Amino acid sequence: MEIILVEKLIKDVTSKENVGRKIVLNGFVNSVRKGKNNVFVMLRDPSGVIQCVSHAGETTFTEANRLTRESSVRVEGVLKEDRRAEGGYEISIENISVYGIADSFPIKKGHKKVFLFDNRHLWFRSRRVTAIMKVRSTVFKSIHEFFDDGGFYEIQSPSFVGGSVEGGSTLFEMDYFEKKAYLSQSWQLYAEAMVDSLWKIYTIAPSFRAEKSKTWRHLTEFWHAEAEMAFTDLDGIMDIEERLIKHVVKRALENNSAELKLLGRETGPLHKTVETPFPRMRYEDIIDLANKNGLKLEYGADLGADEERAITSKLEVPVFSMRYPIKLKPFYHKPDPSDPTHVLCNDLLAPEGYGEIVGGGQRVDDKETLLRRLREEGLDEKNYGWYVDLRRYGAIPHSGFGLGVDRLVMWICKMPHIMYAVPFPRTPRRLTP
Ligand code: 4AD
Ligand code: MG
Repeated sequence: MEIILVEKLIKDVTSKENVGRKIVLNGFVNSVRKGKNNVFVMLRDPSGVIQCVSHAGETTFTEANRLTRESSVRVEGVLKEDRRAEGGYEISIENISVYGIADSFPIKKGHKKVFLFDNRHLWFRSRRVTAIMKVRSTVFKSIHEFFDDGGFYEIQSPSFVGGSVEGGSTLFEMDYFEKKAYLSQSWQLYAEAMVDSLWKIYTIAPSFRAEKSKTWRHLTEFWHAEAEMAFTDLDGIMDIEERLIKHVVKRALENNSAELKLLGRETGPLHKTVETPFPRMRYEDIIDLANKNGLKLEYGADLGADEERAITSKLEVPVFSMRYPIKLKPFYHKPDPSDPTHVLCNDLLAPEGYGEIVGGGQRVDDKETLLRRLREEGLDEKNYGWYVDLRRYGAIPHSGFGLGVDRLVMWICKMPHIMYAVPFPRTPRRLTP
């Protein structure tokens, strides 16, 4: 059959001025209802669904009766207004060309999560998944937009690396000719070299963590938006983080109101996030807040998914949690000059129970402190030679952060698990499809 590239989508053709005109659409059969006198085909494309009807006696009736759910077709017909139909319009079919008749579609209402993710390649077509992916697209675009408008250079680091950034326990190890290589946990150490040349830089790339524990917010491969800035301190980098999150959430509200509605996302907290300054709390105040919310945390406790869920479940706006005890954070964080038992770090915790979406802070910027911190953490200075060099030849104050993009999408869409926010998620248990 002749292939016509149909440029227009349902949303483009369903308007008053097109009523009575002939319309051509490609699409998938979202559902089909067959009666003695009519066949109603709900045609779906990326922009929505439209009801198409064929009547008994018309030449298209036999062809329409052949259609099954998820068959792919091109429909030609005349646009009519119909109040009863979803979207308010209907097409009287004049011609149907079938690309492919679908076998009985395996995905039906009420399937469990595991079955749906086993069939992610087919489930991906669903209107809910499509809506989440449209929000995800806005999130990526608006991160690029924010950094581009702010004068940041986009720059890349390797995925094969020789050592750890975020601790050895989550490193993916592999053979690399006669050596060991690892998959990158973060671009950060390379960013600290590149920032000396470009001063304001960012990237969006996959990072890898061999996460042993199975939680609702950990992937083994996640998308990491990271930024690094020269001559910037902890407060300065938190300003950037806050403006970035506000910008992305604002764009999602502007571009994706229909999708958020389809997902049943109540947008009050998102509007508040755009409008309200994010509170900046010290670690010890966060521990107090946690204990007020029914936890029994000791000073010095690390915050995991459960603790952060309890802390943020009643919040509607993200909150910064800053200046953690030095033992809780990696070697690269700068000790607070006024209290070296703590570091100049920040986590940004998303509200509504979601917790950490950003980790960042000010970096160690003198050689002696860095060498001491490597020793204290039991890391071999030899593996960090080039990183130490950066403090040997013109060290500068600098700061940066990493945003977990999938976590941000999960929160904006208010999904119960990070897997919903990712096209084809990778977890300890899932490598296919
Ligand atoms: O807090 P993290 O480990 O910080 C870093 O990697 C820094 N080196 C970043 C930097 O300063 N350039 O990771 C940053 C963010 C976390 O806040 C979280 O949102 C996300 O990355 N993240 C994960 N997302 C999904 N699955 C995982 N396993 C994640 N691990 C971290
Ligand atoms: Mg972190």
